[in-house]
Amino acid sequence: MSEGPRIKKLGKIILLSAVLCSFLAGCKKKTESEEDGSQIILGFSQIGAESEWRIRNTESILEAAAQNGIQIIYENARQKQENQLQAIHSFIISQVDVIAFVPIVETGWDNVLQEAKDAGIPVIVVDRMIKTADKSLYAGLIGEDSFSEGKKAAEFLVKKYKTSKPDEPLNILEISGTENSSPAYERARGFRSVIQKEPKFRIIHSESGDFLRSKGHEIGNKIISFNSGLSIGQNPIDIIFSHNDAMTWGVLDALRENNIHATTVTIVTIDGERKSIEALTYGAINCVVECNPNTGPKLCELVKLLHEGKPIPPVTYVDGEVFTEFDSFTKFAGKGF
Ligand code: AHR
Repeated sequence: MSEGPRIKKLGKIILLSAVLCSFLAGCKKKTESEEDGSQIILGFSQIGAESEWRIRNTESILEAAAQNGIQIIYENARQKQENQLQAIHSFIISQVDVIAFVPIVETGWDNVLQEAKDAGIPVIVVDRMIKTADKSLYAGLIGEDSFSEGKKAAEFLVKKYKTSKPDEPLNILEISGTENSSPAYERARGFRSVIQKEPKFRIIHSESGDFLRSKGHEIGNKIISFNSGLSIGQNPIDIIFSHNDAMTWGVLDALRENNIHATTVTIVTIDGERKSIEALTYGAINCVVECNPNTGPKLCELVKLLHEGKPIPPVTYVDGEVFTEFDSFTKFAGKGF
Protein backbone atom coordinates (compact mmCIF):
# COMPACT_ATOMS: atom_id res chain seq x y z
CA MET A 1 0.00 0.00 0.00
CA SER A 2 1.44 3.44 -0.84
CA GLU A 3 1.72 6.20 1.77
CA GLY A 4 -1.40 8.03 0.38
CA PRO A 5 -4.00 5.30 1.00
CA ARG A 6 -2.26 4.45 4.26
CA ILE A 7 -2.65 8.01 5.52
CA LYS A 8 -6.28 7.98 4.39
CA LYS A 9 -6.67 4.75 6.33
CA LEU A 10 -5.14 6.34 9.41
CA GLY A 11 -7.45 9.32 8.91
CA LYS A 12 -10.36 6.87 9.09
CA ILE A 13 -8.84 5.24 12.13
CA ILE A 14 -8.43 8.57 13.89
CA LEU A 15 -12.02 9.39 13.01
CA LEU A 16 -13.13 6.01 14.28
CA SER A 17 -11.01 6.50 17.40
CA ALA A 18 -12.64 9.85 17.95
CA VAL A 19 -16.04 8.18 17.57
CA LEU A 20 -14.89 5.39 19.90
CA CYS A 21 -13.61 7.95 22.42
CA SER A 22 -16.89 9.84 22.44
CA PHE A 23 -18.78 6.53 22.55
CA LEU A 24 -16.75 5.38 25.55
CA ALA A 25 -17.05 8.79 27.14
CA GLY A 26 -20.81 8.69 26.50
CA CYS A 27 -21.15 5.23 28.06
CA LYS A 28 -19.35 5.95 31.28
CA LYS A 29 -20.21 8.49 33.91
CA LYS A 30 -18.03 11.58 33.78
CA THR A 31 -15.01 11.19 36.05
CA GLU A 32 -14.46 13.65 38.85
CA SER A 33 -11.51 15.12 36.92
CA GLU A 34 -13.67 15.69 33.85
CA GLU A 35 -16.31 17.35 36.04
CA ASP A 36 -13.95 19.71 37.87
CA GLY A 37 -11.72 20.45 34.86
CA SER A 38 -8.62 18.80 36.34
CA GLN A 39 -8.54 16.21 33.54
CA ILE A 40 -5.02 15.23 32.42
CA ILE A 41 -4.04 16.59 29.01
CA LEU A 42 -1.53 14.49 27.10
CA GLY A 43 0.20 15.76 23.97
CA PHE A 44 1.11 12.76 21.80
CA SER A 45 3.28 12.93 18.67
CA GLN A 46 3.19 9.78 16.54
CA ILE A 47 5.56 9.13 13.61
CA GLY A 48 2.88 8.40 11.02
CA ALA A 49 1.25 5.30 9.60
CA GLU A 50 4.08 3.44 7.89
CA SER A 51 2.91 -0.04 8.93
CA GLU A 52 -0.04 -2.02 10.33
CA TRP A 53 2.00 -2.14 13.55
CA ARG A 54 2.10 1.65 13.75
CA ILE A 55 -1.64 1.93 13.05
CA ARG A 56 -2.40 -0.54 15.86
CA ASN A 57 0.01 1.33 18.17
CA THR A 58 -1.84 4.61 17.56
CA GLU A 59 -5.22 2.94 18.12
CA SER A 60 -4.00 1.38 21.37
CA ILE A 61 -2.89 4.76 22.73
CA LEU A 62 -6.05 6.61 21.65
CA GLU A 63 -8.31 3.87 23.07
CA ALA A 64 -6.43 3.70 26.38
CA ALA A 65 -6.50 7.50 26.78
CA ALA A 66 -10.29 7.48 26.25
CA GLN A 67 -10.74 4.63 28.74
CA ASN A 68 -8.63 6.43 31.34
CA GLY A 69 -10.37 9.80 30.95
CA ILE A 70 -7.15 11.37 29.62
CA GLN A 71 -7.64 14.10 27.04
CA ILE A 72 -5.22 13.52 24.20
CA ILE A 73 -3.92 16.00 21.65
CA TYR A 74 -2.78 13.72 18.85
CA GLU A 75 -0.36 14.78 16.10
CA ASN A 76 0.66 12.60 13.14
CA ALA A 77 4.16 13.63 11.92
CA ARG A 78 3.84 11.94 8.52
CA GLN A 79 7.36 10.48 8.76
CA LYS A 80 9.12 13.81 9.34
CA GLN A 81 11.18 14.66 12.40
CA GLU A 82 10.61 18.40 11.80
CA ASN A 83 6.84 17.83 12.15
CA GLN A 84 7.46 16.04 15.45
CA LEU A 85 9.62 18.90 16.73
CA GLN A 86 6.88 21.37 15.77
CA ALA A 87 4.20 19.24 17.46
CA ILE A 88 6.18 18.96 20.71
CA HIS A 89 6.83 22.69 20.62
CA SER A 90 3.10 23.35 20.24
CA PHE A 91 2.32 21.01 23.18
CA ILE A 92 4.68 23.10 25.31
CA ILE A 93 3.00 26.35 24.21
CA SER A 94 -0.40 24.81 25.03
CA GLN A 95 0.92 23.83 28.50
CA VAL A 96 -0.23 20.21 28.33
CA ASP A 97 0.32 18.15 31.49
CA VAL A 98 2.46 15.42 29.94
CA ILE A 99 4.08 14.91 26.52
CA ALA A 100 4.57 11.51 24.88
CA PHE A 101 6.30 11.03 21.55
CA VAL A 102 7.61 8.25 19.31
CA PRO A 103 11.01 9.43 18.06
CA ILE A 104 11.36 8.63 14.37
CA VAL A 105 15.16 8.75 14.70
CA GLU A 106 17.48 8.59 17.70
CA THR A 107 19.05 12.05 17.69
CA GLY A 108 18.08 15.71 17.40
CA TRP A 109 15.70 15.98 20.37
CA ASP A 110 17.81 17.74 23.01
CA ASN A 111 16.68 21.34 22.37
CA VAL A 112 12.96 20.65 22.35
CA LEU A 113 13.27 18.36 25.40
CA GLN A 114 15.18 21.10 27.23
CA GLU A 115 12.29 23.48 26.40
CA ALA A 116 9.80 20.98 27.86
CA LYS A 117 11.94 20.55 30.97
CA ASP A 118 12.21 24.32 31.44
CA ALA A 119 8.41 24.52 31.14
CA GLY A 120 8.07 21.82 33.81
CA ILE A 121 6.32 19.36 31.45
CA PRO A 122 7.42 15.72 31.86
CA VAL A 123 8.09 13.74 28.69
CA ILE A 124 7.67 10.02 28.02
CA VAL A 125 9.53 8.50 25.07
CA VAL A 126 7.36 5.83 23.42
CA ASP A 127 8.38 2.76 21.39
CA ARG A 128 11.82 3.93 20.14
CA MET A 129 14.90 5.04 22.06
CA ILE A 130 16.69 8.36 21.79
CA LYS A 131 20.33 9.31 22.25
CA THR A 132 20.87 12.30 24.48
CA ALA A 133 23.76 13.46 26.63
CA ASP A 134 21.35 14.38 29.45
CA LYS A 135 18.99 11.54 30.46
CA SER A 136 17.14 13.89 32.81
CA LEU A 137 15.54 15.52 29.74
CA TYR A 138 12.87 12.82 29.73
CA ALA A 139 11.10 10.92 32.49
CA GLY A 140 11.22 7.44 30.99
CA LEU A 141 10.77 5.17 28.00
CA ILE A 142 8.01 2.68 27.29
CA GLY A 143 8.57 0.39 24.34
CA GLU A 144 10.04 -2.81 23.07
CA ASP A 145 13.48 -4.31 23.62
CA SER A 146 14.67 -4.21 20.01
CA PHE A 147 18.07 -5.72 20.82
CA SER A 148 16.38 -8.78 22.25
CA GLU A 149 14.05 -8.99 19.21
CA GLY A 150 17.10 -9.16 16.92
CA LYS A 151 18.61 -11.85 19.16
CA LYS A 152 15.42 -13.93 19.11
CA ALA A 153 15.36 -13.77 15.29
CA ALA A 154 18.93 -15.10 15.13
CA GLU A 155 18.32 -17.76 17.80
CA PHE A 156 15.58 -19.23 15.62
CA LEU A 157 18.08 -19.54 12.74
CA VAL A 158 20.66 -21.21 14.98
CA LYS A 159 18.01 -23.76 15.97
CA LYS A 160 16.73 -24.28 12.42
CA TYR A 161 20.20 -24.84 10.98
CA LYS A 162 21.80 -26.64 13.90
CA THR A 163 22.60 -29.73 11.80
CA SER A 164 23.85 -27.89 8.73
CA LYS A 165 27.57 -28.22 8.06
CA PRO A 166 29.90 -25.40 9.12
CA ASP A 167 31.56 -25.38 5.68
CA GLU A 168 28.24 -24.81 3.87
CA PRO A 169 27.63 -21.08 4.25
CA LEU A 170 24.12 -19.74 4.74
CA ASN A 171 23.66 -16.41 2.99
CA ILE A 172 21.47 -13.82 4.69
CA LEU A 173 19.79 -10.77 3.19
CA GLU A 174 18.90 -8.28 5.92
CA ILE A 175 16.15 -5.75 5.20
CA SER A 176 16.49 -3.17 7.91
CA GLY A 177 14.18 -0.45 9.19
CA THR A 178 14.47 3.34 9.01
CA GLU A 179 18.07 4.51 9.08
CA ASN A 180 19.13 6.10 12.39
CA SER A 181 16.06 4.71 14.16
CA SER A 182 16.64 2.70 17.32
CA PRO A 183 14.71 -0.44 16.25
CA ALA A 184 16.76 -0.67 13.03
CA TYR A 185 20.01 -0.19 14.91
CA GLU A 186 19.20 -2.43 17.88
CA ARG A 187 17.58 -5.26 15.89
CA ALA A 188 20.67 -5.38 13.66
CA ARG A 189 22.95 -5.37 16.71
CA GLY A 190 20.99 -8.06 18.58
CA PHE A 191 20.90 -10.28 15.47
CA ARG A 192 24.65 -9.98 14.93
CA SER A 193 25.42 -10.64 18.60
CA VAL A 194 24.14 -14.20 18.05
CA ILE A 195 25.13 -15.05 14.47
CA GLN A 196 28.68 -13.79 14.80
CA LYS A 197 29.33 -16.85 16.97
CA GLU A 198 28.23 -19.11 14.08
CA PRO A 199 30.58 -18.61 11.11
CA LYS A 200 28.30 -20.52 8.72
CA PHE A 201 25.92 -17.52 8.71
CA ARG A 202 26.99 -14.69 6.40
CA ILE A 203 25.10 -11.42 5.98
CA ILE A 204 25.80 -10.88 2.28
CA HIS A 205 23.71 -7.73 1.97
CA SER A 206 21.89 -5.32 4.26
CA GLU A 207 19.58 -2.63 2.93
CA SER A 208 17.07 -0.26 4.49
CA GLY A 209 13.44 -0.72 3.51
CA ASP A 210 12.36 2.13 5.81
CA PHE A 211 9.78 -0.17 7.48
CA LEU A 212 7.62 0.22 4.34
CA ARG A 213 5.85 -2.48 2.33
CA SER A 214 6.55 -0.54 -0.90
CA LYS A 215 10.31 -0.61 -0.23
CA GLY A 216 10.18 -4.30 0.70
CA HIS A 217 8.50 -4.86 -2.65
CA GLU A 218 11.28 -2.97 -4.47
CA ILE A 219 13.96 -5.00 -2.70
CA GLY A 220 12.02 -8.20 -3.44
CA ASN A 221 12.01 -7.37 -7.15
CA LYS A 222 15.75 -6.62 -7.09
CA ILE A 223 16.74 -10.01 -5.69
CA ILE A 224 14.83 -12.13 -8.21
CA SER A 225 17.38 -13.43 -10.69
CA PHE A 226 16.84 -14.47 -14.33
CA ASN A 227 16.35 -18.16 -13.39
CA SER A 228 13.78 -17.23 -10.71
CA GLY A 229 16.21 -17.88 -7.88
CA LEU A 230 16.86 -15.29 -5.19
CA SER A 231 20.33 -13.79 -5.17
CA ILE A 232 22.53 -10.78 -4.59
CA GLY A 233 24.95 -10.74 -7.53
CA GLN A 234 26.29 -14.27 -7.82
CA ASN A 235 25.39 -15.17 -4.23
CA PRO A 236 22.18 -17.13 -3.67
CA ILE A 237 20.04 -15.99 -0.74
CA ASP A 238 19.13 -18.69 1.79
CA ILE A 239 17.60 -16.48 4.49
CA ILE A 240 15.80 -13.13 4.63
CA PHE A 241 15.84 -11.33 7.97
CA SER A 242 13.33 -8.48 7.71
CA HIS A 243 13.04 -5.90 10.49
CA ASN A 244 9.26 -5.69 10.15
CA ASP A 245 6.20 -7.40 8.73
CA ALA A 246 5.35 -4.60 6.29
CA MET A 247 8.66 -5.05 4.43
CA THR A 248 8.28 -8.84 4.60
CA TRP A 249 4.90 -8.63 2.89
CA GLY A 250 6.45 -6.35 0.26
CA VAL A 251 8.98 -9.11 -0.53
CA LEU A 252 6.22 -11.74 -0.52
CA ASP A 253 4.22 -9.58 -2.97
CA ALA A 254 7.22 -9.55 -5.34
CA LEU A 255 7.69 -13.32 -5.06
CA ARG A 256 3.99 -13.99 -5.71
CA GLU A 257 3.95 -11.67 -8.74
CA ASN A 258 6.88 -13.64 -10.18
CA ASN A 259 5.38 -17.07 -9.38
CA ILE A 260 8.14 -17.88 -6.89
CA HIS A 261 7.21 -19.98 -3.87
CA ALA A 262 8.07 -18.25 -0.61
CA THR A 263 9.08 -21.67 0.73
CA THR A 264 12.30 -21.48 -1.36
CA VAL A 265 13.79 -19.07 1.19
CA THR A 266 13.73 -18.93 5.00
CA ILE A 267 12.00 -15.75 6.19
CA VAL A 268 12.31 -14.30 9.68
CA THR A 269 10.24 -11.22 10.42
CA ILE A 270 9.48 -8.93 13.36
CA ASP A 271 6.10 -7.47 14.50
CA GLY A 272 3.42 -10.16 14.72
CA GLU A 273 0.59 -9.15 12.42
CA ARG A 274 -2.10 -11.86 12.44
CA LYS A 275 -1.53 -12.64 8.76
CA SER A 276 2.21 -13.15 9.38
CA ILE A 277 1.53 -15.63 12.18
CA GLU A 278 -0.97 -17.40 9.91
CA ALA A 279 1.70 -17.55 7.17
CA LEU A 280 3.72 -19.87 9.45
CA THR A 281 1.06 -22.50 8.93
CA TYR A 282 1.54 -22.59 5.14
CA GLY A 283 5.31 -22.09 5.12
CA ALA A 284 5.53 -18.59 3.61
CA ILE A 285 7.18 -17.28 6.80
CA ASN A 286 9.33 -19.36 9.17
CA CYS A 287 9.60 -17.22 12.29
CA VAL A 288 7.72 -14.20 13.65
CA VAL A 289 9.24 -12.27 16.54
CA GLU A 290 6.41 -10.39 18.17
CA CYS A 291 6.78 -6.67 18.85
CA ASN A 292 3.76 -5.76 20.93
CA PRO A 293 2.09 -2.55 19.69
CA ASN A 294 -0.41 -2.35 22.56
CA THR A 295 1.45 0.17 24.69
CA GLY A 296 -1.60 2.35 25.40
CA PRO A 297 -2.72 1.00 28.81
CA LYS A 298 0.80 1.03 30.31
CA LEU A 299 1.52 4.47 28.85
CA CYS A 300 -1.61 5.83 30.55
CA GLU A 301 -0.48 4.39 33.92
CA LEU A 302 2.82 6.22 33.52
CA VAL A 303 1.10 9.46 32.49
CA LYS A 304 -1.06 9.32 35.63
CA LEU A 305 1.96 8.71 37.87
CA LEU A 306 3.79 11.70 36.39
CA HIS A 307 0.71 13.86 36.76
CA GLU A 308 0.65 12.95 40.46
CA GLY A 309 4.29 14.07 40.68
CA LYS A 310 5.52 10.49 41.16
CA PRO A 311 8.60 9.04 39.42
CA ILE A 312 8.33 6.41 36.70
CA PRO A 313 10.82 3.65 35.85
CA PRO A 314 13.52 4.81 33.39
CA VAL A 315 12.60 1.92 31.07
CA THR A 316 9.36 -0.10 30.78
CA TYR A 317 9.43 -2.88 28.20
CA VAL A 318 6.34 -4.53 26.75
CA ASP A 319 6.80 -8.29 26.33
CA GLY A 320 6.63 -10.12 23.03
CA GLU A 321 6.47 -13.82 22.13
CA VAL A 322 8.19 -15.73 19.34
CA PHE A 323 6.15 -17.84 16.90
CA THR A 324 7.94 -20.33 14.66
CA GLU A 325 7.39 -23.18 12.26
CA PHE A 326 8.39 -25.55 15.09
CA ASP A 327 5.44 -24.57 17.28
CA SER A 328 2.21 -26.47 17.54
CA PHE A 329 -0.13 -24.29 15.46
CA THR A 330 -2.64 -24.20 18.32
CA LYS A 331 -0.26 -21.65 19.91
CA PHE A 332 -1.22 -19.18 17.17
CA ALA A 333 -4.95 -19.04 17.97
CA GLY A 334 -6.04 -15.46 18.63
CA LYS A 335 -2.48 -14.10 18.33
CA GLY A 336 -1.45 -11.10 16.30
CA PHE A 337 -3.15 -7.85 15.40
O1 AHR B 1 9.33 1.03 16.05
C1 AHR B 1 8.65 -0.15 15.84
C2 AHR B 1 8.67 -0.49 14.38
O2 AHR B 1 8.17 0.58 13.64
C3 AHR B 1 7.81 -1.68 14.01
O3 AHR B 1 8.50 -2.88 13.93
C4 AHR B 1 7.42 -1.30 12.62
O4 AHR B 1 6.45 -2.09 12.02
C5 AHR B 1 7.15 0.12 12.79
O5 AHR B 1 6.90 0.83 11.69
